[in-house]
Order: sequence, then structure tokens, then C-alpha cells
Amino acid sequence: MEFKEVIRKRYSCKKYSEKKVEEEKLAAILEAGRLAPTAKNLQEQHVYVLQSEEALAKLDKITPCRYGASTVLVVAYDGSNVFTYPGGTQDSGMEDATIVATHMILAAADEGIDSCWINRLDPDELATEFGLPENEKVLMVMDLGYAAEDAGPLPNHEKRKPLTDTVSYL
Ligand SMILES: Cc1cc2nc3c(=O)[nH]c(=O)nc-3n(C[C@H](O)[C@H](O)[C@H](O)COP(=O)(O)O)c2cc1C
Repeated sequence: MEFKEVIRKRYSCKKYSEKKVEEEKLAAILEAGRLAPTAKNLQEQHVYVLQSEEALAKLDKITPCRYGASTVLVVAYDGSNVFTYPGGTQDSGMEDATIVATHMILAAADEGIDSCWINRLDPDELATEFGLPENEKVLMVMDLGYAAEDAGPLPNHEKRKPLTDTVSYL
């Protein structure tokens, strides 16, 4: 798909059909995350794929926002392997993992896979429930699947501020 079309076509899907994400499409999505840039090329991301009934049921205890997706990614990062910026108050962990997640969500759209970025959850609870290593922080959860027949973008999908509100030339 042409890049501009990918950007336009992606929306937050909140109802999925039972159709599963094909293995090769999931592989393409994960590969797009692998190619994301990270500060100092530290690549501290860790992506967990939830597909088993057991894993999806665990997730459902933590968030109401799976919406029937049969594949869900959890994007985490190793907080002990990040680049700390000069000044010492901020580091690259969340940024790097966000770029990874953004690559993947756009790659999903390119593959014709619907998605939603999910953060309505307690990341520490999720880490505990899935027994993630102590040094890993959860950034986000990504629902992946095929939209149900009666699903589609919500009205707010079209509501974006004009560039005059969000861009300033200094
Ligand atoms: C950081 C972030 C967190 C979000 N968390 C949730 C969530 O927990 N549950 C949900 O249904 N949608 C969630 N969304 C989806 C947004 O509600 C949606 O992206 C936004 O309203 C714009 O809609 P669109 O993606 O269809 O253009 C999240 C999106 C972002 C970027």
C-alpha cells in the first residue's frame, strides 16, 4: 500500500471478527518493529505475542479493551538498558518502545490488519500477571485482527486539529 494511504487507512478498531491474523502478516508486523530506530541502537524493546486462550483470558482480567482481537502484542522495554539523556532526568526507554510500536501499527495497516493502541490498564499489573522480568516496563498493548463487519472508525477519527493549531514556525 502506498505510504500516505497507510497513514490514512489506519484507525482504532474496537470490534474484531473471529478471523485470525495470518502468520506471515504477523511476521511482517514484527519485522517492522525490529527495524525501528532506537537511541544508540540499544534495541531494548521486548514484544510479547498473546494468542493462546490462556494468555488472552489473562489480558481480559486487566483491560476491557481487547474487543475480541485474537492476536495481541504487549510492547515492553528493558529499563536497565536505556540511554539516559544529559541532565539525568529522562531516558530513551519509552520513546524507543513507542517508535517500535508505531512501526508495527502502521505495518499492520499496510498488511490489511486492523489494530488499536491500548493503554487503559495498569502496566505493572500486566507485568506481574504475565511474569515479565523485573527490569521490563510495559509501554502498551496492541490489539490486532480483522474488523467485525459492523465495525469501523469512530466519529472522532476524522476530528484532527488543523496544522495552524499544532505547528508554529519560529
Ligand atoms: C496512547 C494511546 C492510548 C490509547 N488507549 C486506548 C485504550 O486503552 N482503549 C481504547 O479503546 N482506545 C485507545 N486508544 C485509541 C484512541 O482512543 C484513538 O486512537 C483516538 O481516539 C483516535 O482515533 P483513531 O485512531 O481511530 O484515529 C489509544 C490511543 C493512543 C494513541
